[in-house]
Amino acid sequence: MIERTFVMVKPDGIGRRLLGEVVRRYEAKGLKLIGLKMQVISTALAEQHYAEHRQKAFYSDLVSFITSGPSVQMVWEGPNAIAVIRQLNGATDSQQADRGTIRGDFGMTIRNNIVHASDSTETARREIGLFFDETELMRYPMPDDGWLGA
Ligand SMILES: Nc1ncnc2c1ncn2[C@@H]1O[C@H](COP(=O)(O)OP(=O)(O)OP(=O)(O)O)[C@@H](O)[C@H]1O
Ligand SMILES: [Mg+2]
Repeated sequence: MIERTFVMVKPDGIGRRLLGEVVRRYEAKGLKLIGLKMQVISTALAEQHYAEHRQKAFYSDLVSFITSGPSVQMVWEGPNAIAVIRQLNGATDSQQADRGTIRGDFGMTIRNNIVHASDSTETARREIGLFFDETELMRYPMPDDGWLGA
């Protein structure tokens, strides 16, 4: 099934000049970029985005971290894009993440793990809606749309 998923390159990823590396990996895999923006997200937006973690001990630290500098928001599309991108990102804790994943190759801590990605179709819909207007999402053909079932 062709899915859309929301990805954020977090302030640590931008600060470490890893934006291009993240985008390169998703493109090389065969995913399609349909939305892109950069901003310092507001505390209010960060709290909405991470609402599921409100009760966790690390919540306020997480909100401070994600609003601490510019981050890049993206929407990627492709067959099973949600699971495919979570695999490319690797496990939450960068030290446990497999080599070959973004977090496994570039991360050292559980919090500063470079990227965020939606974890379900419901989450993807909610997160895309928080950061993008439908008119900001591009519809355009790719040469391999047919082969990928897109
Ligand atoms: N124990 C922790 N201490 C500090 N920060 C944490 C901890 N657990 C998670 N985080 C931070 O909160 C984010 C959200 O946690 P979640 O459990 O949703 O992980 P995830 O789904 O792998 O990551 P993300 O939602 O960012 O894609 C993590 O990516 C990480 O930055
Ligand atoms: Mg998550």
